[in-house]
Amino acid sequence: MGAAFGEDAGGMEERDRIAIDLHDSVIQTLYGVGLRLENCLDCVEDAERLRREIEKSIEALDAAIAALRDFIFGLQPRPGAGSGLPETLLALLHHHSAGTLMQTNLSVLGQEAPALDDARKTQLFRIADEALANVAKHSRARSVAVELGQEGDKVILRIVDDGIGIDWEKVRWGKGVASMKALAAAMGGKLAVRDAAGGGTEVEVAIPVGGVAGG
Ligand SMILES: Nc1ncnc2c1ncn2[C@@H]1O[C@H](COP(=O)(O)OP(=O)(O)OP(=O)(O)O)[C@@H](O)[C@H]1O
Ligand SMILES: [Mg+2]
Repeated sequence: MGAAFGEDAGGMEERDRIAIDLHDSVIQTLYGVGLRLENCLDCVEDAERLRREIEKSIEALDAAIAALRDFIFGLQPRPGAGSGLPETLLALLHHHSAGTLMQTNLSVLGQEAPALDDARKTQLFRIADEALANVAKHSRARSVAVELGQEGDKVILRIVDDGIGIDWEKVRWGKGVASMKALAAAMGGKLAVRDAAGGGTEVEVAIPVGGVAGG
C-alpha cells in the first residue's frame, strides 16, 4: 500500500494519519469479529445465539470492507499531490462506477481546466465525491457526466445523472447535501441540486474564479 504515497515532505504525515485511522477502524473491527467468532464456538449448541453472533459478525465485516474501500480510494491520485483536477475527477468517476453498469463521462469545457489552488481543487473534489456517491446510491442512473469549466468569472463543476431524479415532496436531506453546500460556501460559492434537463439530477457548484478574500 505504501508505494502509492508521494515522496513529498507531507508523505510521512499522511502515512501516519492513515496508519492510525486504519488501526482505529478496520483493525479494531476485524479484531471484534474474531472475538465474536470465538463466542460462536461457545454457543454452537444454542442456535438462536449462534445466529445473532454470526449476523453481527457479517455486519461488522461489511463495515470493515466499506472502511477499507475508503482507505484504498484515499491512495488514488488526489488534487494537490502533483495531479490536476480533471485527472483526479476521472479516478473518482471510475471509483464510483466500479461494479455498476453506469456509463461515465468527464468533460473539461473550454481550452483547459480552470486554474485553481490545491485547497480549492481538494474541496471541489470532495464535493464531486459526495455527489457521485449519491448518484451511485440513489439515482439508478445509466450514465453520469462530470463537467468542469469556467463560465464568466465562475468556475463551474456539474455532476449530472440520468436516473430517477429527486422526489422533492419526500426527499430527506442527509449530511451529504449539507456538507457539499458548506464546502461550496467556504469557497465563496454556491451549490444547487436540481432536476437535470433530460430527467435525473444535476448538482452544480459555482465558485468565483479568483477565490474569496482570505479563502
Ligand atoms: N443523484 C441523485 N438521484 C436521486 N436522488 C438523490 C440523488 N442525490 C441525492 N438524492 C436524494 O437526496 C437525499 C439526500 O442526499 P444526502 O446526500 O444529503 O443524504 P444521503 O445520501 O441520504 O445520506 P448521507 O448523509 O450518507 O449523504 C438522498 O437520500 C436521496 O433521496
Ligand atoms: Mg449522500
